[in-house]
Amino acid sequence: METETQTERTQPSRASQDLSEAIKEATKEVHTQAENTEFMRNFQKGQVTREGFKLVMASLYHIYTALEEEIERIRDSPAFAPVYFPEELHRRAALEQDMAFWYGPRWRLAIPCSPATSCYVQRLHEVGHAEPELLVAHAYTRYLGDLSGGQVLKKIAQKALGLPGSGEGLAFFTFPGVPNATTFKQLYRARMNSLEMTPEVRRRVLDEAKAAFLLNIQLFEELQGLLTPESQNQSPPQTPGLHHRASGREQDPSPAGAPRGKAPLPSHSPAPLLPWVLTLLTFLVATVAVRLYAL
Ligand code: HEM
Repeated sequence: METETQTERTQPSRASQDLSEAIKEATKEVHTQAENTEFMRNFQKGQVTREGFKLVMASLYHIYTALEEEIERIRDSPAFAPVYFPEELHRRAALEQDMAFWYGPRWRLAIPCSPATSCYVQRLHEVGHAEPELLVAHAYTRYLGDLSGGQVLKKIAQKALGLPGSGEGLAFFTFPGVPNATTFKQLYRARMNSLEMTPEVRRRVLDEAKAAFLLNIQLFEELQGLLTPESQNQSPPQTPGLHHRASGREQDPSPAGAPRGKAPLPSHSPAPLLPWVLTLLTFLVATVAVRLYAL
């Protein structure tokens, strides 16, 4: 759907409060929680490493693939059509570019899918199939977030990772179809407010939005758990799950053509292996499960 006008007015809502206000209020607390996860706090301080960034970007690739697959399925439904903005918002193609940048041409074989990512993906498919009227909660949580704090994170990542000003590796954060994020968010909120829903569905949408934030929080906590030992080493990170997994199929998946930081640690560190082996196995199982699902 094209952006017909960026000055659309908010439709009267059947409920006492507009959905856009209600959802913002309902997710205020979890938004603060998300901002304050260690991963996000570090990110905001510019403490973001290539390995952490690659991991989160790979997760986002899986998440948006699932989200947009489900959105396409229900694009014509009155429960979603008003907030269907593929040209302006959809991120899958941008994330594919980023995956090629960060993981190289054979990125489809190289990217990990962590357990928390699989959990998020699974929930998106469940909602898409069983409760499509709740998908707006997931679209809101991701797209409006990307158009808000996401823009700050882009600048931080660019600086911290020494990325080119051209935006390579950061296509995810760039919305060529949205020249003015503030105006677009107003339009999006107006469209949300135009969705007709029963009070019961509305309550479930608000609950699902909170659940969506919690899925993001779980993801950040998981990624932080994977990265923390590396940070404690004060070394440029290599996530064992990622590299070990890729080692049989791919060369070092450092960003294709991207400038490198310090020399990486060897992939197979003699450090305590058991937790990493378990993590690796979980990654592998989750990745295979997602691919099987995608088939
Ligand atoms: C470092 C982390 C984050 C920062 C600094 C941040 C910052 C912000 C800011 C400043 C706004 C308000 C923008 C405005 O009023 O125009 C905002 C809105 C929003 N953020 Fe975040 N955010 C962060 C993380 C997240 C995460 C992890 C999510 C969910 C995945 C998220 C989802 C949202 C949503 C949905 C909105 C729109 C709220 C509304 O207007 O209804 N944010 N964020």
